[in-house]
Amino acid sequence: MRRIILTGFMGAGKTTLAQALGVRLGCNWWDLDDLITERAGRSVPALIREAGETYFREAETVALQSALTNLAPSAAQVVALGGGCWTLERNRLLVQQHNGLSVWLDASFALCWERITADGAASRPLAQDYAATKKLYELRREFYAQTELRLTVAPAQTAEELAEIVISQGNLDL
Ligand code: S3P
Repeated sequence: MRRIILTGFMGAGKTTLAQALGVRLGCNWWDLDDLITERAGRSVPALIREAGETYFREAETVALQSALTNLAPSAAQVVALGGGCWTLERNRLLVQQHNGLSVWLDASFALCWERITADGAASRPLAQDYAATKKLYELRREFYAQTELRLTVAPAQTAEELAEIVISQGNLDL
């Protein structure tokens, strides 16, 4: 089965969907931010604040590479990327080279912002104020649109329902 790579803006629900896909498909899943945290020995927000975004992006690419080549602590069939990962060409190429099925969780900005604020400002250093975050959301859409599968997320939709859509539209039924 092809590895499923989930992308989309902060708060789109990538981690929750990765977990639901893991349960549904009976496979391992990784959240790339968790992998980075494990390797760096500090949280992603701390890494961005203390070492800077460029350093974090390099760690992110290294983590993606190890997830795609099964060098992560264990192989995982589903990988949830951080919201900025897919915007870099080198990361998109890596996913393509490994024949990953890229999926865009396209949630409205209102829904993402609601979740971002509910999680608290400390957890996402790159989403600190409404206007700048909305601009980032708009700027990134052209990159997210380069995925193989686009999943429009309705606020009431459960992760389990979304997982079924990914499985049927991605022809992943076992
Ligand atoms: C980021 C998204 C975060 C995390 C980091 C940067 C981004 O992940 O990787 O704070 O640039 O969009 P989530 O999308 O899981 O919040």
